[in-house]
Amino acid sequence: MNKTILITGGAGFIGSHVVREFVLKYPDYKIVNLDALTYAGNLENLKDVENSSNYTFVKADITDAAHILQIFEEYQPDGVIHLAAESHVDRSIIDPTAFVMTNVIGTVNLLNAAKEIWKGNFEGKRFHHVSTDEVYGTLGEIGLFTETTSYDPHSPYSASKASSDHFVRAYHDTYGLPVVITNCSNNYGPNHFPEKLIPLCIHNILNNKPLPIYGDGKFTRDWLFVIDHAKAIDLVFHEGTNGGSYNVGGFNEWQNIDLVRELCKQMDEKLNRPNGTADQLITFVKDRPGHDLRYAIDATKINQELGYKPSVTFEQGLSITIDWFLNNQDWLDSVTSGDYQKYYDNQYKAG
Ligand code: NAD
Ligand code: DAU
Repeated sequence: MNKTILITGGAGFIGSHVVREFVLKYPDYKIVNLDALTYAGNLENLKDVENSSNYTFVKADITDAAHILQIFEEYQPDGVIHLAAESHVDRSIIDPTAFVMTNVIGTVNLLNAAKEIWKGNFEGKRFHHVSTDEVYGTLGEIGLFTETTSYDPHSPYSASKASSDHFVRAYHDTYGLPVVITNCSNNYGPNHFPEKLIPLCIHNILNNKPLPIYGDGKFTRDWLFVIDHAKAIDLVFHEGTNGGSYNVGGFNEWQNIDLVRELCKQMDEKLNRPNGTADQLITFVKDRPGHDLRYAIDATKINQELGYKPSVTFEQGLSITIDWFLNNQDWLDSVTSGDYQKYYDNQYKAG
């Protein structure tokens, strides 16, 4: 079955795992990775598959509507898997407009290009929009997000993702565009950019720097290993119901402080340091404005309808992740030089 699948944001954290999954699993597909290579995009993430005959990279910015249409006309994708985004909540608080441009306008540009080239002939076509559980806002102490939970975003990032989800549904309802949406919980794993909690703490433990915990550390997130997210995207892209949305998660909630303590324990073991060494770096700092208390995904629908189950436990996934970072310190050094340092100093200066 020869198909062309265009994956946006394929040089980023999750996108690179999705590209690898598709390039290796579907040799008959032509995989086009479209990415602007922002600070978060890195072709080093795809070194092992970049010479595959079914893989092509195209550098493009999804905010450039004319260029995006030209690329769609050239490659004629049958499927689009859209991951390109500004993805970091803290950066969205500093510069919301960049998030509107990429996450909202960029998504609409892709929808328009798909609509333009498919011209109402939707047989074998699919637009898969990759989104987040943050669109649902925050939970209290109990309850889980289901696919019917009302949208209630609080950060500029989640507001932009919620808006993009609404546009995707609007193009399905108005123009009949064949779409699916996945809303996933927090990912972790190899190639995670060290502005996010887990890789930031790994990097700081290696450099003997403070581990900044926002507020009282009791904020709760639901963590999924990135390769398990890539497998869920593969499943929903191929088997999800047209127009449907699927929550993706692994029923794996952790309070931030407990998660960081588990990470410290594993790091001490792997670095042959006395238990409790990394813990001493834990530092409570000023809270994130508008910080959502708790996210937790009810993944019953994807489990029951599509038979989805994560392949690793959190402890296993975290161990694989730490090993990857220990074995790829060049990668970590290269992404934490230059602009990263400026961002880091500004973000954490007030303590
Ligand atoms: P990331 O920041 O690591 O990567 C984003 C990628 O998009 C980068 O390669 C970047 O170069 C590219 N990009 C950014 N702006 C672009 C533009 N204007 N044009 C083209 N490319 C552009 O992000 P991630 O963590 O891999 O997230 C990928 C997607 O998954 C996002 O849509 C995000 O909202 C969603 N998501 C992320 C998580 C998570 O925990 N990281 C969880 C659920 C959903
Ligand atoms: O829930 C899915 C979302 O998960 C994705 O949509 C986002 O793209 C992704 O970045 C992630 O968002 P979070 O804001 O939850 O991830 P982050 O790693 O930034 O923060 C995780 C938790 O840790 C959150 O409660 C804030 C806290 N935190 C984060 C940082 C960076 C700290 O306490 N200290 C920190 O330095």
